[in-house]
Amino acid sequence: MTDCQGDGEGTMSPMELFEKLNAQGEKVRSLKSAKAEKGEIDAAVQLLLKLKVDYKQMTGQDYKAGCPPSENLIMSNNGPAADDCDGEDLVDPWNVSASSTKGVDYDKLIVRFGSSKIDKELLERIEKVSGQRAHHFLRRGIFFSHRDMHQILDAYEKHKSFYLYTGRGPSSEAMHVGHLIPFIFTKWLQDVFDIPLVVQMTDDEKYLWKDLTLEECHRFTVENAKDIIACGFDVNKTFIFSDLDYMGASPQFYRNVVKVQKHVTFNQVKGIFGFTDSDCIGKISFPAIQAAPSFSSSFPQIFGGKKDVPCLIPCAIDQDPYFRMTRDVAPRIGLLKPALLHSTFFPALQGAQTKMSASDPNSSIFLTDTPKQIKNKINKHAFSGGKDTVEEHRKYGGNTEVDVSFLYLTFFLEDDEKLEKIKEDYTSGALLTGELKKILIETLQPMIAQHQERRKQVTDEMVQQFMTPRPLNYKF
Ligand code: TYM
Repeated sequence: MTDCQGDGEGTMSPMELFEKLNAQGEKVRSLKSAKAEKGEIDAAVQLLLKLKVDYKQMTGQDYKAGCPPSENLIMSNNGPAADDCDGEDLVDPWNVSASSTKGVDYDKLIVRFGSSKIDKELLERIEKVSGQRAHHFLRRGIFFSHRDMHQILDAYEKHKSFYLYTGRGPSSEAMHVGHLIPFIFTKWLQDVFDIPLVVQMTDDEKYLWKDLTLEECHRFTVENAKDIIACGFDVNKTFIFSDLDYMGASPQFYRNVVKVQKHVTFNQVKGIFGFTDSDCIGKISFPAIQAAPSFSSSFPQIFGGKKDVPCLIPCAIDQDPYFRMTRDVAPRIGLLKPALLHSTFFPALQGAQTKMSASDPNSSIFLTDTPKQIKNKINKHAFSGGKDTVEEHRKYGGNTEVDVSFLYLTFFLEDDEKLEKIKEDYTSGALLTGELKKILIETLQPMIAQHQERRKQVTDEMVQQFMTPRPLNYKF
């Protein structure tokens, strides 16, 4: 075992066994290609088979290269690969593509990632504990999956505070409407639970992954922070930080990064993120930096050095691989596992088979778009679930499950009754695609204009205030 394998020896975790299997598989292949002696190859194969049996016993799953064990195993606490293990949907921090026009099969994803569904019981509990009606993102299943949310609520009921952590990778000046989803929801959580929030701006990540300079990434951090502040966060309860600034300024944060780095091997991040030997070393160690804000000790100015303030992370499910890794490491470095609430993806204009992505401008409606641009993009690009001719549409009706305009309304039209009526009318054929698009345009244009107005009010001094390490106000 290498020095990175953990402080405490003893029983191997499923992830460690998975890694050992990977290494043994590689050994068998290299012995065969080097035409090693038969006895030596046989011994290596025997060990490989034995490890496979152990793995099956430990996890209940067959070993499959590239598919690490999921979190809901007999005794595991790590997750499967970010790539597509069962030949269908691909979901990781950089790619989302679904095989069906209805989009990603989120129920299957829950099973594959080993998270839990946000069911009726949890919804009712959130309402009871917060004393508020659940946000429509929860009621409509847009936030659909969680890890350990019951534990967060248990603690809160015992008057133990928790904190929220979310983030943004500032890859360009303009964010798209899909990026608003976690922030709108996080703002709701901050309001109803009255708790502190930390927002990580991973300018370092974008520098490592994109063809951008450090100065550009840092500038995008400040520009994107303005959009985040425009969502209405309370400055007394919110700390937004740039990795490029905070990593060097906070010894406690960096200590947590290093602890995570020591306890995750290259094999593990290869399995989780698909890194290859030719990826730069910055990428390989970056997941430790996204993990560190999950631990309250990374923010002594807020939590006074406490290690045990629970963390809740709202994000789309593409970010889950980072936090499966974090949850695997946390107990091994004596820290709490973060809890998560996962959202579905706001689809690309072209259809739910992929998510809205800033790198494809035609797939996205940006927070900087003018009313005219919004109208043109929707009319030109929004995938329709309607029929080819008006006659056919009136006769057979449209399909709201694949219609992008309808899907967007489920995110942004808050009135449940109005949404239900639109669904009925579109399905029956009473409402035409052009009319549905018009409703969406009239919903998004004022929403984005109001966002732009609020953003204009955000001054550099306000950004500075949000981004200064300082104590925050919170209840418990
Ligand atoms: P980034 O900038 O890609 O995305 C920011 C947040 O937006 C979510 N998101 C979406 N949600 C719904 N529909 C979409 N089409 C869509 N596209 C993106 C992402 O899940 C994310 O929550 N590495 C991260 C930054 C980060 C982070 C975090 C995110 C650092 N720490 C903690 C969440 C939680 C990134 O590049 O996000």
